[in-house]
Amino acid sequence: MTVTLGSSTAIFAANAASLESRVCFVGMIGRDPFGALVRTSLEARGVDTRYLVEGDVPTGASICMSYGEDRAVLTYQGAMDVMGLGDINPEVFEETKHIHLSSIFMQSGVLRDLEKILDLAAAKGITVSLDTQWDPVEKWSFDYNRLLPKITVFMPNEKELRCLTGKDDLESAIAEVRPYLGFAMMLKCGSKGSVLIMKDGSRTNLPAFLNKDVVDAIGAGDSCNAGFVSAFVKGLPLRECQRTGNLTGAVNTTAAGGTGAFASLEAVRKVCLNRFGQEINL
Ligand SMILES: Nc1ncnc2c1ncn2[C@@H]1O[C@H](COP(=O)(O)OP(=O)(O)OP(=O)(O)O)[C@@H](O)[C@H]1O
Ligand SMILES: [Mg+2]
Repeated sequence: MTVTLGSSTAIFAANAASLESRVCFVGMIGRDPFGALVRTSLEARGVDTRYLVEGDVPTGASICMSYGEDRAVLTYQGAMDVMGLGDINPEVFEETKHIHLSSIFMQSGVLRDLEKILDLAAAKGITVSLDTQWDPVEKWSFDYNRLLPKITVFMPNEKELRCLTGKDDLESAIAEVRPYLGFAMMLKCGSKGSVLIMKDGSRTNLPAFLNKDVVDAIGAGDSCNAGFVSAFVKGLPLRECQRTGNLTGAVNTTAAGGTGAFASLEAVRKVCLNRFGQEINL
């Protein structure tokens, strides 16, 4: 068993920082060893932790059992479930140009305040990306009619999109959310790659950069998000953001856990070139 930095948002933050985006992590930890691990691991990657809040609840933790490209995760939510808009320093909305949200069903405080957070971001001209991730209680209470128009890039995977919309058929699920998209949807399809869908319905399918030697797929989605968003905040064209996302998702599968393959941009560059014959334009 390895004790390491986890959670969708922390993996995203650590890997986006390794890709040399300037990242600040806004989240809640407890005053305990796991909280210290989160702080030091993020700082080791160059993530700004000044808006990390210490609450009176223990730090969330997961036991992650990995089986090839699938896995089972048992999570104690702890502090991550408590943080709401009231715990977020308002300076955040003055300083950032992009906010990435993830695992909203694991964070009931964030889910409760989501619309207010999105409105504050919009008022400041901040772009937003959101990955719902899986809902462990499978209620899928995400009012996409109201919320999606306020989200610049929506980043679910296929299964999550089908569950959110209650449509078994993927095309029907896409058709259901498409009119509400704020700008675009990066739909993640595992080893099949991704589909970029624009609000006007145009789309780009991009096959995965296939890795025949998958170590594990823990965090592939978050690493894909980190690549996509790092390219997006640099102002690269959306198709290049998609290619970068597919590439960093693939890179993720070459090492253990969610952050193993992302020691530095140089290390990622080498894996992209040697394993996938691709340049990464970050
Ligand atoms: N086995 C693989 N080989 C190459 N690329 C992969 C593989 N698995 C995933 N990827 C790439 O990573 C991207 C994101 O992975 P995936 O679709 O699994 O996201 P996800 O379901 O959100 O993942 P997670 O369960 O980590 O949240 C995919 O679109 C694909 O481009
Ligand atoms: Mg995911």
